[in-house]
Order: sequence, then C-alpha cells, then structure tokens
Amino acid sequence: MRLLGIETSCDETAAAIVERDPAGRGTILSNIVRSQLDEHAPYGGVVPELAARAHVSHLDHIIARASAEAGVKLRDLDGIAATAGPGLIGGVLVGLTTAKALAAALGKPLIAVNHLEAHALTARLTDGLAFPYLLLLVSGGHSQFVLVRGVGDYQRWGTTIDDALGEAFDKVAKLLGLGNPGGPEVERLAKSGNPLRFKFPRPLLKEHRLDFSFSGLKTAVRLAAEEIAPLTPKDVADICAGFQLAVTDIVRHRAAAALSRFRAELPGVAPVLVVAGGVAANQAIGSGLRAVAAEAGAQLVVPPIPLCTDNGVMVAWAGAERLALGDTDGFEISAKARWPLDSADMGLGHGH
Ligand code: KG4
Ligand code: ZN
Repeated sequence: MRLLGIETSCDETAAAIVERDPAGRGTILSNIVRSQLDEHAPYGGVVPELAARAHVSHLDHIIARASAEAGVKLRDLDGIAATAGPGLIGGVLVGLTTAKALAAALGKPLIAVNHLEAHALTARLTDGLAFPYLLLLVSGGHSQFVLVRGVGDYQRWGTTIDDALGEAFDKVAKLLGLGNPGGPEVERLAKSGNPLRFKFPRPLLKEHRLDFSFSGLKTAVRLAAEEIAPLTPKDVADICAGFQLAVTDIVRHRAAAALSRFRAELPGVAPVLVVAGGVAANQAIGSGLRAVAAEAGAQLVVPPIPLCTDNGVMVAWAGAERLALGDTDGFEISAKARWPLDSADMGLGHGH
C-alpha cells in the first residue's frame, strides 16, 4: 500500500509518499520538507499565525512535488494521512483539512495521525523494529519516555514538567544572543568551551521519577550570564558547554532509570531504546545515550536525523501502520492542539 503523509503541526510544511509491503517493510518514495525558519527568524521563535499562513501558501505544491518525485499519482494512493495534533492548531487545521478534501475527492481512506505516534513508529520503518521498545522523544515541543507496545498502544513513563529539551536549548541560545534554532548553535559553541567552569544544577536528579524539568537550569544559566556580563566569546562558549554537560547528565541519568524499569517490567524482552526528535542530532547527548545503552546491555536506535525531525514520511508510515490494521478515521475527526499518546495520562504536562 502507498500513502501520502502530510505534516503541518509546527514550522515545517511536509509531504511524503511511503510504501508498505505485506510483510510490514517500508520504502520511502518521496520526502519533501519546507522549513519556515526564515519566516520566523525576525521574531526569535515560531509565530503560530505566520506558520499557518505559510502552510496555506505552500502545502499544495509540496504535495504535488511529493507525488511527482515518487512517480505516484494521487489517484493511485491507498490512503491519505495527516497530522491531526498535537501542535499549533492553525497549522494542524491546514494539513488535516487538505487531507480530508483529498480523501473525499479521491474516495480514499483518511488516517488522522497523532504526531507523537508518528515519531514513535518511525524506527519500525527505518530499522524494522518489533514491539515493544522504549522511545525517548526529545524535540522543541516534547520530552518524553514512552513504552511503545503496539500501534495505538502506548504508555508514557515520563515527560517534562516545564520546558521541552529543545526549547531549553533554544531559550539558552536566545539569552546568549545566538541564532534560532538554538540547539545546533549551542552545540557548536560548546565544542570550544570549558564544561566545568560553571556548575549548573541537574533538577530532579535525586528523584526516581522519569520526568524532566529544565526551567531551573535555564534560570541558573541566565543568572550566571547576568553576573559576568558583558560576555566575551569565551564566556558564551563556557556557558554553552556547561549547559550541554548538565542536560547530557540529566538525559543519561533518566535513560538509565528508564532502561532499568524496562528490564524490570518486561523480563525476557531485549531492551531497545529509540531516540527521536530534533535534539537527537546533538552528538554529546547521543554519545551519552550510547554509553548508557551499552552499560544496560540495550540496543540504541537513532533513525537518520532528517527522519527524527518533523517530516511527512513518519506521518505516511504511521498512517500505513494503522491502515494495515483497518484503523481509519471519519471526516468528523477534528484537529487537536493537545492529544496525549497515552489516553490514561491526561495529567502532568500532557501533550508535552
Ligand atoms: O523535532 P524538531 O525538528 O521540531 C519539533 O520541535 O517538533 O526539533 C527541533 C528542536 C529545536 O528546539 C532545536 O533547537 C533542537 O531540536 N535541536 C538541537 C540540535 N539540533 C536541533 N538541540 C540540541 N542540539 C542539536 N544539535
Ligand atoms: Zn515533532
């Protein structure tokens, strides 16, 4: 089966066509992503109304390109999938409404995909993983551990109680006067900095829970920067290095705890940790996670970075996984700003 996937929940307008064979193997036939970084750059962050307008302006031709590059006509598709949440509601509406119109006009099934589920299932396309596995999703909007037990069967083990990890990178970059998105900039400058000059806090580290908290760390960074202002390039590099070391320690510690929980709750299952989201591109965090996985005897899977960040492939693939189970949606389905993966979990930081 071949599906179109549409992603418009944040600042990427994306469409892709993916094929899934009867054995459950996937092939990417096209993958078009248009980043809106330039539109939002003057504002230092994503402006929801601008994002929605840019999706309106670009989505149609991005879908046409996805169809042309795949060599698949829209009428030959087996289903239309689009992110229906969580995300910025204006953008989600653009993608979901377009998907409904295409599905209605072409007489194809509609699959309204949870964006988090799309991130969670990507490793099955890229690495052919079997269930269950543990997902660490770390992006600009989310920081969570999720036990992936099956399609539509998720248990959230931890989330952030304040900022997402990528958001913390972005905010630290902003207060240091660096560009947006901040993660890659902070990582670049951290390479030449002294990570031990500033001793930043590691919030919640003494607790056993698998949740994250980054706002205290961000405040500590701001206070340290204010204390020594005006900052020299060396100061900025040292702050970046200290911050990156602190978050790497936090992520390592949490991942080790999550893998012990995996072993305890799923005895006899070889533990697998999948990392997704834009922060998966960070090499310091990546090597920290490799070390933790090696210590725990777990397999670490990091899909190629362009498939870890927002894209249409993951949406098409999640749609294909659901369509293969006969699980499609009616046209009454609505866009959702918040939509936790784990329906039992509407409390703490839900949707984050
Ligand atoms: O998954 P993503 O592309 O978009 C969503 O948030 O959905 O993630 C973007 C986030 C941004 O916060 C960005 O600063 C962060 O991922 N990021 C990084 C790195 N590359 C991207 N954070 C740390 N180090 C990086 N190398
Ligand atoms: Zn995402």
